[in-house]
Amino acid sequence: MTSPDPATLRRALADQLEVGGVLRTPAWREAVEAVPRELFISSFFRDAPGPDGITRYTPVSRDIDVDEWLTIVYQNETWVTQLDGHLTPDTANGPVTGFPTSSSTMPSTVVGMLESLDVEKGMNVLEIGTGTGYSTGLLCHRLGDDNITSVEVDPAISERADAALEAAGYSTWTVTGDGLLGHPRRAPYDRTIATCALRRIPYAWVRQTKPGGIILATVGPSAWSYGTGLAKLKVKEDGTAEGRIIGRASFMPARAEAAIPLSGDLSARAAYADTERKTSLSPDVLNDWMPAFLAQLAAPGAQLVCAVSDSRETVYLFDTSRESFAALTTDGDEWNVRQGGPVAIWDAIESAVTAWKDAGEPDITTVRMAVTPETHAYWIGDQQLASPDRSYSIDEKPELRWLHRYPPLST
Ligand SMILES: C[S@@+](CC[C@H](N)C(=O)[O-])C[C@H]1O[C@@H](n2cnc3c(N)ncnc32)[C@H](O)[C@@H]1O
Repeated sequence: MTSPDPATLRRALADQLEVGGVLRTPAWREAVEAVPRELFISSFFRDAPGPDGITRYTPVSRDIDVDEWLTIVYQNETWVTQLDGHLTPDTANGPVTGFPTSSSTMPSTVVGMLESLDVEKGMNVLEIGTGTGYSTGLLCHRLGDDNITSVEVDPAISERADAALEAAGYSTWTVTGDGLLGHPRRAPYDRTIATCALRRIPYAWVRQTKPGGIILATVGPSAWSYGTGLAKLKVKEDGTAEGRIIGRASFMPARAEAAIPLSGDLSARAAYADTERKTSLSPDVLNDWMPAFLAQLAAPGAQLVCAVSDSRETVYLFDTSRESFAALTTDGDEWNVRQGGPVAIWDAIESAVTAWKDAGEPDITTVRMAVTPETHAYWIGDQQLASPDRSYSIDEKPELRWLHRYPPLST
């Protein structure tokens, strides 16, 4: 058997992305065919469920078998490269457990996002979340190393990515820092793209992106790894940005925004309820992508936890920063909901999900959004709802509108 040749594997990957409708532009195809993914993920973790159902991550490197390793590298898969903020495949002895904190995202997601960025020759791009540097390499190939600035929060990851980019022939601007602040020194940018997910688009990015420029980022995560949307915004002359959710996307959350697992006695967090009532909306609805997305817009920062005690399941939603909770338990065909603290979490979620159901369950791509220095607003636009006789303007149907006031992040 002949060994796989990286150039052939790259062409095969490009073919696969093209057939799948992801890769549409010859210039991006050229980049996929040119950038050697093996330099960016010389080692990585392969995941599989363990006997207890918990995912095990097994280190993979060229030491296993160089042909097998190369073939895996060019699969259209996300390969995790760091767990729990420190564990790398080089330091792990055998299968380990942990929470992924860096990866090389699956090429179809990366390339799909790059296609959506609508870049043209000569543009400069700010990338947040360098990770392995593979997506940075694709950008460098397409637009030139000097036009790319990539920010990575983790110094060790940033250093590795910089070395891999150099090895691939790209001397670009890799910066170690908190990408939520953008990178003012090289601003303004034609395009800003994030490959980590955010609760909101920082106003700093709007400020650092030229009028007419595009910001592309995954928004919505708090406690869910799903139920997030890819936002595409255009920056306006007046310094605000407007756009819509163009599809589903799933990324690991920005470091500072990752939910900290709640420990200890969960029932103690829900000891004092201010209200108790029945609800016919099952919390199981939050297993579905769009209701989960709406829930995260309606109750940003809330964490979802299921607990079983004496074979009775309780679904909790906690907003720890505002000492609020909702606790749901089944009661026949209905659910009993107890809520406490200043934010009535389930009221907000129920009203958003019910309004969305009443509106004919429109797709995530009907969600529009705007970012100003003071606010982050989402709404479901009337002309985009599924059926014309069920259209609502924002004012008529406030449950289809979410306005969050945030202090702007300074630049
Ligand atoms: C999914 S990986 C990036 C994938 C990468 N673009 C690639 O192609 O390999 C997400 C990265 O975002 C980084 N990250 C998380 N929060 C960040 C922040 N606030 N600023 C910059 N980078 C951040 C993580 O450390 C991680 O390396």
